[in-house]
Amino acid sequence: MVPTGRRERILFVDHTAVLGGAELSLLDIATAFRHCAAVALFDAGPFAHALASRGVRVITLSAGTALRNVKKDSRAPSPAALLTTLRCAFQLSQAARGFDLLYANSPKSFLVSAMAGVLASRPVVWHLRDIVSSAHFSPANIRILVAVANQRAARVVANSQATADAFVKSGGRLDIVRVVHNGIDPEPFDALPPDARAATRRSLGIAEDAFVLGSFSRLHPWKGQRVLLDALESLSGVHALVVGGALFSGEEAFEAELRVRIAHPSLAGRVLLLGARGDVPRLIAACDAVVHTSVLPEPFGRVLVEALLGRRPLIASDAGGVREIVQDGVTALLVPPGDVPALVRAVQTIRDEPALAAAMAEAGLADVRLRFTPTALIEGVSAVIDGVLDARIV
Ligand code: UDP
Ligand code: GLC
Repeated sequence: MVPTGRRERILFVDHTAVLGGAELSLLDIATAFRHCAAVALFDAGPFAHALASRGVRVITLSAGTALRNVKKDSRAPSPAALLTTLRCAFQLSQAARGFDLLYANSPKSFLVSAMAGVLASRPVVWHLRDIVSSAHFSPANIRILVAVANQRAARVVANSQATADAFVKSGGRLDIVRVVHNGIDPEPFDALPPDARAATRRSLGIAEDAFVLGSFSRLHPWKGQRVLLDALESLSGVHALVVGGALFSGEEAFEAELRVRIAHPSLAGRVLLLGARGDVPRLIAACDAVVHTSVLPEPFGRVLVEALLGRRPLIASDAGGVREIVQDGVTALLVPPGDVPALVRAVQTIRDEPALAAAMAEAGLADVRLRFTPTALIEGVSAVIDGVLDARIV
């Protein structure tokens, strides 16, 4: 764990203040480091409140709000994007003078931190939580990210081996990469009352005997909510809770599309679109199985660990970091990304073979409790930070 007597000061940096998986993970990291760290954010929002409520100091950089409009898949950085990045870097470099190390939690915040690190002569670590490939990023953005990382990142902390491999495949330096998986606190799952399933169903108006799937991802085409709805068309009588918000700008149209789709007679009355929620453990408890349907490689997928901590059978998309978390047929059923008939078959298996489903959930729970702990996450991050500070890499 983080030594409480630590003198070095860490400035974590994130461009967004919405609560995505990357921010939920940083929330736990920053909480563990709070006696010697602060978090710089380029925006205001729920992440800032969550950090403050855990006693973490938040520094909001006013120049950053314009960064919202800079997209991963934009073909080339516009002059406006460059100007915003420079402004943020300057502000961040001022803040960085009170710290020994900058620790960036996203691609955008890494680029800004890299510049600020030069201005303030501070080392920069990048926690890479994205698969750097043409499926997620434009070629120009990949070139920029990899070149800057190779030059300016003291270390790249990858959230999975799959993420690390994609970075290296894109030209990233292998010698600076360290893999540190996410760790999730089991306590909110363990603390649920025995009647959580029934009580949550009652509060949502779902029948006790309905077979219910749960999807827990922000609403985005690559998270595959369409695949789930396609599968439901062939799964008569099966219900779904679709949990997650359109967190980033531009996804409102996708949410509207899903709303129209679930009102169609083929799905009407079977799908609840619940938006972004803060009570995921309780909602997981209401489900008979959790489905992860990403159509592009998932860098890690916290939701997989959470489903198993919630003692639910899990069906997941077989790509990215998913095989580092689960074993097909042992702790979950894996289906090829975007393969609707395969998803339908997997749901039928879980529904029709409850003993198999329960055995996989039980094996998965035991496995994730051991391998994806908050302690391992903090120790992994701590080791990287200590290594950089001890070696005085700038
Ligand atoms: N989540 C949440 N509320 C929601 C939907 C999701 O708190 O309405 C959480 C979910 O429990 C998980 C995280 O958001 O911890 C998503 O992380 P994941 O790694 O699965 O995907 P990401 O969105 O980061 O790509
Ligand atoms: C990102 C990834 C997700 C991962 C999360 C936490 O948001 O999309 O797969 O679990 O970061 O590292």
